[in-house]
Amino acid sequence: MIVAIANNKGGVAKTTLAVHFATWLTMQGKKVLLLDLDTQGSVARFLGLPPGDELAELFHAVLNLSPARRPPLRSFLTGVAGYQDLVVIRGWGRSADLEAMLTTNAARAGGSRTVAGVAADVLRETLALIINVAEVVIDTGPYAGTLQQAALLVADHVFVPGVPEPATDAGVLDIARRLREVHRGITGLIPTKIVSSHIHEATIASWQRALPNIVYYDPPHRLHGLPRRVIWGEIVGYGRPIWNIRPKEWSVRRAVHEAATEMETVVRRMAYDAEIGSH
Ligand SMILES: Nc1ncnc2c1ncn2[C@@H]1O[C@H](COP(=O)(O)OP(=O)(O)OP(=O)(O)O)[C@@H](O)[C@H]1O
Ligand SMILES: [Mg+2]
Repeated sequence: MIVAIANNKGGVAKTTLAVHFATWLTMQGKKVLLLDLDTQGSVARFLGLPPGDELAELFHAVLNLSPARRPPLRSFLTGVAGYQDLVVIRGWGRSADLEAMLTTNAARAGGSRTVAGVAADVLRETLALIINVAEVVIDTGPYAGTLQQAALLVADHVFVPGVPEPATDAGVLDIARRLREVHRGITGLIPTKIVSSHIHEATIASWQRALPNIVYYDPPHRLHGLPRRVIWGEIVGYGRPIWNIRPKEWSVRRAVHEAATEMETVVRRMAYDAEIGSH
C-alpha cells in the first residue's frame, strides 16, 4: 500500500505523522519504505540520520539511465537504528535540480506529459520494485508543488494533518479537489495542535460536516486527533520517535505515555483506513 501525508500548509505535523506511522508499522511486523519527498530533509533529522539526497540521485537514475545501467534500488536506501524493517529514501536540498530534470523530461515528451506526471512515473517505476515486499509511506513538503502532486497521483491513500483553523481550509480543499480529479478522495483528515478554543472547535465541526467520517476527531471514542507534540527528540536533540523514549522523570514519563497513546490511536486508525491489515 502507498500512503501519502500531505498538506499545503507548513508546520502541521506531516513529518511527525509520517515518521510515527512508518515506525509503528514496522513494530507491527511490516517492512516499510519511508520516502521523503520534501527537500527540507526533515525525515532524516527526525530519525537522527545525517542528511542525504538519494531522492535526487534516484530521479536522475530513472530519468537519465537505461534500466541496465541504473544502480540497484538498495543503493538509494538508508537503514534506521532500532527499526530493522524500515528503510528511508532521504530527500535533502537539490529541489531546483529535481524540478529542472523533470521539466526537461516533460518537454522531451512534447507536452503530452505534465511535470508532475513525469515525477509520478518515476515514483511508480521505483515503487514497483518494492511494493510487493513493503508498505510505502510518503512525506511531502509545505507547498502544492510537483513532488506533492506526484505523491497524490501515486498514493493509494492520502492523509491530511492540519491545525483546525480557517487558514488550513484552503489547503485541505485544494488537496480534496486534486484527488477528485483523479477520482479519489482524502482517506483521513487529522486535526493537530488542537487547543480548546472556539475557532478550533468550530473548524473541526465544519470539517466533519464537509468531509463526514474521515475526520480523526471523536472524543467519546477516544479519538482526539493529535493535540500533543510527540517528537521528544526534536526537543532534547537526538531525534527519536516517541515509541522508544524512556524518560527518567516520572512527570515526563507520564506525558510521554499520554502522547504515545494518542499517537498510537491515530496511526492504528490510519492503518485500518489504509487497509494495511495484520496479514
Ligand atoms: N500535535 C502537536 N502539537 C504541538 N506541536 C507539534 C505537534 N505535532 C508536531 N508538532 C511540532 O510542530 C513542528 C512541526 O512539525 P512537523 O515538522 O512534523 O510539521 P510539518 O508539517 O512536517 O512541517 P513542514 O511543513 O515544515 O514540513 C515540530 O516542531 C513538531 O514537533
Ligand atoms: Mg515536514
